[in-house]
Amino acid sequence: MPAPERYPLALRVNGREHEFDIEAWVTLLDLLRERLSLTGTKKGCDHGQCGACTVLVDGKRINSCLTLAVMQNGREITTIEGLANGQELHPMQQAFIDKDAFQCGYCTPGQICSAIGLINEGQAKTPAEVRELMSGNLCRCGAYPQILEAVASVAGISRDGDNKLHPIVTGTVPA
Ligand code: FES
Ligand code: FES
Repeated sequence: MPAPERYPLALRVNGREHEFDIEAWVTLLDLLRERLSLTGTKKGCDHGQCGACTVLVDGKRINSCLTLAVMQNGREITTIEGLANGQELHPMQQAFIDKDAFQCGYCTPGQICSAIGLINEGQAKTPAEVRELMSGNLCRCGAYPQILEAVASVAGISRDGDNKLHPIVTGTVPA
């Protein structure tokens, strides 16, 4: 059987240039985890349903399990490993710590990348908008109230009239 066809691919990942010859069917998620050992990006469902695999592509959040790596040729990829500035955490990383916004931590890299992408989009103006626009990132530990607190604190969102931030819509990550 002939060897599968490979395609050239150049990516800048967390500030470093990488070149690959890669099969067309390799997802960006698998490339990050298996070829670059960037395992901070998690594989939850592998079907675009949980958000655990969220990374930033040219500053925009995407589910890396849903895109083929070859489709991102020439792009700048940022994963959870690329957010800190040396020893200084990204403000969103620090906010998740300060607000106690995780339990097992499995969803956390995706939550943080998604939250940064959300703020980049300029759409997160109210707690309700954050809840809605983060609803693609599921947390099976149910840390939604703290996640909302963390994102709101970085986004500079004011509280609702009753001075409470209400929980993000809950969901479960498929087993
Ligand atoms: Fe990509 Fe769940 S692993 S959305
Ligand atoms: Fe455990 Fe979110 S902190 S899945």
